[in-house]
Amino acid sequence: MSKQFDVIVIGGGPGGYIAAIRAAQLGQSVACIDEWKNSKGGPAPGGTCTNVGCIPSKALLQSSEHYDHASHHFADHGISVSGLGLDVAKMLARKDTVVKQNNDGILYLFKKNKIAFFHGRGSFVKAVDSGYEIKVTGAAEELLVGKHIVVATGSNARALPGTPFDEETILSNDGALRIGGVPKKLGLIGSGVIGLEMGSVWRRLGAEVTILEGLPTFLGAVDEQIAKEAHKAFTKQGLKIELGVKVGDIKVSKKGVSVAYANAKGEAVTLEVDKLIVSIGRVPNTIGLAADAVGLKLDERGAIVVDDACKTNLPGVWAVGDVVRGPMLAHKAEEEGVAVAERIAGQHGHVNFNTIPWVIYTSPEIAWVGQTEQQLKAAGVKYKAGSFPFLANGRARALGDTTGMVKMLADAATDEILGVHIVGPQASELIAEAVVAMEFRASSEDIARICHAHPSLSEATKEAALAVDKRTLNF
Ligand code: FAD
Ligand code: NAI
Repeated sequence: MSKQFDVIVIGGGPGGYIAAIRAAQLGQSVACIDEWKNSKGGPAPGGTCTNVGCIPSKALLQSSEHYDHASHHFADHGISVSGLGLDVAKMLARKDTVVKQNNDGILYLFKKNKIAFFHGRGSFVKAVDSGYEIKVTGAAEELLVGKHIVVATGSNARALPGTPFDEETILSNDGALRIGGVPKKLGLIGSGVIGLEMGSVWRRLGAEVTILEGLPTFLGAVDEQIAKEAHKAFTKQGLKIELGVKVGDIKVSKKGVSVAYANAKGEAVTLEVDKLIVSIGRVPNTIGLAADAVGLKLDERGAIVVDDACKTNLPGVWAVGDVVRGPMLAHKAEEEGVAVAERIAGQHGHVNFNTIPWVIYTSPEIAWVGQTEQQLKAAGVKYKAGSFPFLANGRARALGDTTGMVKMLADAATDEILGVHIVGPQASELIAEAVVAMEFRASSEDIARICHAHPSLSEATKEAALAVDKRTLNF
């Protein structure tokens, strides 16, 4: 006899486990199937985000930033350190502990919300009168039937053609997060989000880092002024970023990796490194789902085709997160998961794609929400821009971190905020105010009239709002 559920979620990453919790809160009987294994073969829910993405990368970014501060910045504060050491094994073990705390937290949440968790691979068998039959293949095999199915199977790292990941020398994000010792020379292909975050970690720990980027522009999706400021800061830190390259043959030997490429001038160059991280984007994952068994429609990229409400071509089958269109971000996956669970329960779930924030956790951090200046120009929207540098912010001076700025873009006629772009300290936290403001369709004047604590970095946001009206007080 197969077990019956109102909702079966396939995939326990941020899209899936959050969808399961919200559905359970709304009174549905819920199962969540996830196949991720920890090093002992046990369940490790949380998906890419928890196991090899957001969480471990931020743990290593934090550890490496402490090391960088102790090595280079404590002296400015009158603190001298002698005998500074680096224990990479301990750093990695701490990261693994942080990951495990998150895995365990999700298992606890499943129990708390009475969600049946199945450790194994979920695949479609067939449509039945009461929904869909789903097979779980794991330690034991089980047959489940769900009235509604939510597919949240995530994404995998994209490899360069002909250069598969071996996770020893040619690394995806997985291998990049567990390099056992600081490589002398580290190469990265792709100066996107992973390239910059992982490149920063290993540079801070002492590696000589070179990033090869195919496009001629740096961080093309980011507001140009912000990207320029970030590029300047990264170059000053010693990250070598080569733009407009065409990567050719990659050869692995006992000594390491050699990457042949043509630089922006078309000259043939070879980069010799100890390890190579390939961070050229991710592909939606439907491996093992047996989408064909029920006729679930995929697009040419392998993503599950969904409408604005995350409905697939099959009645009662939904898909969320990295496996569908849109930005590959954990919080986007979560929002979709919540909205789908609410729609299944007959409510009006909603995701506002215009106010999804982006954060790159480098130093300085980069964060933005809404439209860039390039996008507004291209769309012919008349706008006003205001910016404020952290150099003129008292808290940033006290922190000793005055790189960057807050920039606000507002509609020329209505003053509604259309975009906020930040490069600088704590940009990841500062962006939340901008998201709230945009969600409430605030004007720049609204932010300019709100009392912000002094001294705080958030005063730079208020000053950027004042700058839209050309009346900054401190610059
Ligand atoms: P996933 O997290 O990929 O989860 C999918 C789960 O489904 C996995 O556990 C997988 O094992 C399981 N699964 C797949 N197929 C099956 C099957 N058939 N049966 C059972 N289980 C299955 N995003 C941010 O917002 N902030 C960040 O700071 C950030 N940092 C990142 C850093 C790195 C290095 C990487 C690689 C990504 C980062 N991301 C970040 C992106 C973020 O991890 C993803 O957007 C997010 O994990 C997507 O969630 P998801 O639930 O759609 O899929
Ligand atoms: P990405 O899309 O951010 O960047 C990939 C880069 O590689 C691009 O600049 C692209 O032009 C370049 N590229 C592609 N093919 C190339 C080639 N053959 N040669 C040279 N360059 C090439 O992808 P990335 O960094 O792999 O990250 C994947 C996704 O994971 C991100 O888009 C993001 O959605 C998510 N992520 C989010 C983080 C965050 O929110 N802080 C952190 C890390 C990842």
